[in-house]
Parts: sequence; C-alpha cells; structure tokens
Amino acid sequence: MQLGVCYYPEQWPDTMWADDARRMVDMGITHVRIAEFAWSRMEPRAGVYEWAWLDRAIDTLAGAGLKIVLGTPTASPPRWLVEAIPDMLPVRADGTTWNYGSRRHYDICSEPYRRECVRITEAMAARYGAHPAVVAWQTDNELGCHETVPSYSNAARQRFREWLARRYETVGELNTRWGNVFWSMEYPSFDSIELPNLTPTDANPIHLLDFRRFMSDEVTSFHREQAEVVRRHAPHADVLHNFMGFFTTFDHYRFASNGSIDVATWDSYPIARTEVIALAEADKARYARTGHPDVSAFDHDRYRGIGHGRFWVMEQEAGPVNWAPWNPVPAPGMVRLWAYEAFAHGAELVSYFRWRQAPFAQEQMHSGLHLPDNTPSPGGREVARAAQEIAESAELSALAQSGPAGRAPVALVFDYETQWMFEIQRHAKDFDYQTLAFEYYRTLREMSLDVDIVSAHADLDGYALIVVPGLAVLPPGFVDTIRRSSAQWVIGPRTGSKTLDFAIPSELPPGPLQTLLPFKVLEVDSLRPSLQPSTTLGGVSGIALHWREHLETRDGVEVLARFDDGWPAVVARDRVRYASAWFDPPLHRALLEAAARDASLNPVHLPEGVRIRRRGPLTFAFNFGAQAVEAPAPANARFVLGSRTLGTADVCVWTQA
Ligand code: GAL
Repeated sequence: MQLGVCYYPEQWPDTMWADDARRMVDMGITHVRIAEFAWSRMEPRAGVYEWAWLDRAIDTLAGAGLKIVLGTPTASPPRWLVEAIPDMLPVRADGTTWNYGSRRHYDICSEPYRRECVRITEAMAARYGAHPAVVAWQTDNELGCHETVPSYSNAARQRFREWLARRYETVGELNTRWGNVFWSMEYPSFDSIELPNLTPTDANPIHLLDFRRFMSDEVTSFHREQAEVVRRHAPHADVLHNFMGFFTTFDHYRFASNGSIDVATWDSYPIARTEVIALAEADKARYARTGHPDVSAFDHDRYRGIGHGRFWVMEQEAGPVNWAPWNPVPAPGMVRLWAYEAFAHGAELVSYFRWRQAPFAQEQMHSGLHLPDNTPSPGGREVARAAQEIAESAELSALAQSGPAGRAPVALVFDYETQWMFEIQRHAKDFDYQTLAFEYYRTLREMSLDVDIVSAHADLDGYALIVVPGLAVLPPGFVDTIRRSSAQWVIGPRTGSKTLDFAIPSELPPGPLQTLLPFKVLEVDSLRPSLQPSTTLGGVSGIALHWREHLETRDGVEVLARFDDGWPAVVARDRVRYASAWFDPPLHRALLEAAARDASLNPVHLPEGVRIRRRGPLTFAFNFGAQAVEAPAPANARFVLGSRTLGTADVCVWTQA
C-alpha cells in the first residue's frame, strides 16, 4: 500500500523540481513515474542525446527519497524521426494514415521504428539502469490506445504473411483450415494474402481472427524487445507496462507470460470509464460522480490475475478528466475511496495521474493532485488524507507490508480470444462478451463475494465456485478439469461454440462439453430488443436479452428452468449449471446465488452501491450509493477506519474482534 504520482519534469521550469519532490514526500508519496513522453528532450536531433536535464530531474527526485519508475518514450516519437521514416505512421482500417501532432503516431509493425525504439531504450537503460533509485521501468505507454492497433500498413501485411506461413506451413493447409473454398477465396501463396480490411462485405472470420492473433503477438513482441534491453542493464528493476481498463485488443495473459513483466499495472479512470462502457443509462446517471461500483474492481481483479498476484495502479484519476463525452467532478470522498478500493483488491501501489494539471496542450482540462497554480486540488487533499490515515493505523500499515492478496473463493474465467471471436461474429449486434462477463462479475460482487478473474489456462484448484461467462473454444483438458474439480460451475452461453479455426464444432455446440453435459445447441436465437423470452428460476421471473440458444437435451441432464415457449433456460448435471441465454439481472442473480449456496458460500445482498472486499484480516466496505447505510459488519467488528455508519463516497474497514 504505497502511493505514487506521474510527473513530467520536462513540462515545468527546473526551479520547481526540488519543491515538487519535497512536497511529494510530505504527502506520503514514495514512487514517481517520469519520462514516458520526453523523447524530443532526450534526443532533440538524431543521435544527439541530452541527458543533463534528466540526470538532474532523477537526482532531485531521488535526493528527496523518491523511488523512480522510468518510462521508455516510444509512445511519442519526435518529429525528426517521423520525417526520417515517413512510413512509420500507422494506417487505419479505411486505408488512411494517422498524422503526426499528438501521440501514438507509429505503426507497431514498422521494423525501422522498432529498431529506433530498441536504440533509445538501450541508450536510456545504459545511462540509468544501475541508478539505485530507478526501481522500475515502464515500456511505452498504453499500447493499443487511441485505436492505433491494429495497423493496416504495408509492414503489417508483410509481417502478417510471415506469421501465417509460420502458423500453417503450407498455403494449402491454410486454405483448408480457413474454408477458403467458400466464395472462391483460395490463395495461391502466402504472398497473395491481404489484410482483412476494405472488403465489400465481411472478410472470412478466421482471416479476421488470425489478424487479431497476429496483432496481439506484435504488441507483445514490441514490449519484449524493450523489456529485454532493460533487463540486461537493470536486472534488479521491475519491468512493467501500463495496461488499460476494459481493453481487449491484445491477449494480456500471453503478453504477461514467460516473465515478460514483473507486475501488472493499469490505468484507472472510473468516472470516465463508466461514461464510455455499455452500461444502462440509469447506471451511468446513478454513478456519474462515483463511477460504477464494479468498474475499477473488475480490472483490479483482472490485472491481479494477469500479474500473478502483483498489481499496481499506474495512473489513478484524481479529479475530473478530459476524454469522456462528459467529465463530471467526482463526489467529495471518491478519490480517497478509490485508493482504499485498490488496496483492498490487492494493489501494492496506487499512483496518481498527475502531480499538477498542465495549463497548456491537450490535457489542460485534466485534473491532477495540484491545480495549474500549484495549489492542492480537492483530489490532492484527499490523497494526503488517505496517506496520513494509513500511516497512523497500525492495522492498515501492517497490511501495507503484507504480501499479495490471497485467493478469492470465486473464480471468473475471462478469455481474450472469446472477446475477439464474438466481436468478429456478434450475430446479435448488442452481444458483447466483456459486457456479459462484467454482468456476471457485478452480480457476484452485489452478493458480497470476492472474485479472482483468471485465464482458462489458470490453475482452478481450490475455488468453491467457478463462473465461465462464455468460452468460445474449450482448451484441451478443460472438460476434464471440470470433471475432476469439486467446485460448483456456472457456464454461460456460446461456450464450446467454435473450434480454434473459427468453425462450428462437428458435434455442434457446446462441443466437447457434451461429454459432460449431454445437450446440443440446435439453433441460436439472436434477440432484437422486442423479443423477450421469459422464464422463472428458483421463484425469480425474468427475461433473456440479446441471445438465446435452443437446446436439445438428452438423458443425464436436468432442466432447471424453461422459457415460456418450452426451450430450456438452465440445464444442470451434478455441480455444473449451463445458462442457455444472456439473462436479465434478476435471473443472473438467481442463477449465481443458487450456485453460491451450493458452494457453501454465503451470498449476502448488499445495499445498492455498497461493496465489500476482504484482504488479510481486514474487511473493507465502500459506499458508491446515494444514501448513508449501515456497514454489513458483524456485531463483534472492531473498526480500524471509519465506523458502522457508512456515509456516501465513504469507506470503513474492520477486523473481527
Ligand atoms: C492515459 C494516458 C495518460 C493520460 C491519461 C489521461 O490514457 O496514459 O498519458 O493521457 O490517460 O486520463
């Protein structure tokens, strides 16, 4: 439980640095991230390095006692570099090119640009790799942000062809597995394969999927080229990248595999995120000043899994931001609440974006811990308060020293390839897999259950309840894992609906799951909003939304609920339940609550907007709602922060006396 801040010394007169550093320390901040956009100041002309200012900035910050997270500057290549390599600009799906004049104006597939990235990283790492205060290195910044991935450049086409040749070996094999006989799409050679954009109608879904797999690998290798350089010069530093919320353009599990990062860090903007994701307007309105209660928690729990237990918030919203359609001021108390929320979910560090609001350029309407006149912002005062509270509490300080958060009782499987497949082939225009996963997640959290979000390849032993909101392709052995496990399982629609080559399995969906649950999906019913099949589950009535499957069941599977027209809504066998549709919230709750009870968990209905999270000996309660509530604490609770009456935008923490 440490605090950090993002700081841009190059944007301020150097006469301010020492005072900034001293006040960071006074506030309880221990870590400062710098340099990730400063290429034009590190190397103003090709090969001409100017390190003196960065030496001084680092020494000033380190001299005040701060630890430094150093960013490689490759998200904002300088003008001279773009002029030297004009085709390094990324190309959009419509064939036009992104221009210079903001950031992320590079094609991740450009080999000359990648060489430049390795070169500047090498120069930085050689200079600062051994600096004792530089404890971590961030590669680039938010890879894939601003829709700069995928890129449809010539370089992308060339590397995609090479990637396909490695995957399929012969073009005949590719033609067969892609089903290219359909519409005469057969290719004579790998060199004749184009990128899947600008086709009159849909490109072949496997063509689109392989392109997404390829691009995901490109993002990963782009990071690893830099990580490898950093590790050579700074073997003891943590290597990381700042991921984004609700972001699925690349497979983060694969990115983080083989030790390519030491800690998963992500950028948390709860109010803006609530504005931009697919939530009901009523939820957006209700939580406009607090952020939806699950929106950050979802990614805390996801990135904790991606980091194998270790995660940080690299950028935390500290007030109003600039990039959502509307950017309300957070309710007083929320900036403090978000800090505790991150810690409760296991964050080692919460770092604020940014130290001081810049009065110039693109982010002048984006707050920081200070106003442009250098006085503390309202959010900055809340951070100082949280830091002081933690320092003064023996229990919170002890938790701050403790290791990673322990295993939760519930696992929710989230899979990036499933996201891509269902995006490529939504079939119902409002079917979004991540949104379905979020619906399951929020239902679990509303019932006060702690959740680990994990990959389909994770070790699932020891969970009491495992929720699979949908998994397009069942990995080998997954059905055996279910069979051997003693957990309760809830499996959602579209599971086992595809093969790795994006085809319908020969035995029909749910594919290999049929060996465990003997039913098959005859047809799928893509539901326009006016079509609302209804059902009753455990006494709770509700409807299907977006998607429903027509199941033909065989002996050995029990139908727990049917729709009004007779089709099964929920089927089960032993510890495994399968939902044939995307349900409305009451039905999702009935489904998950029954499974949680069978798993001997204790699902407690929390008041609206209230969430709890346990970490070590402490239980944290958060109130995102509009009313003060009584904290759902046992009678013998001893409060180490706050009290039993939990105000709006407030937090309390207790331990069992
Ligand atoms: C992030 C980015 C930061 C800053 C911030 C503003 O996406 O990494 O550099 O732009 O958003 O909210």
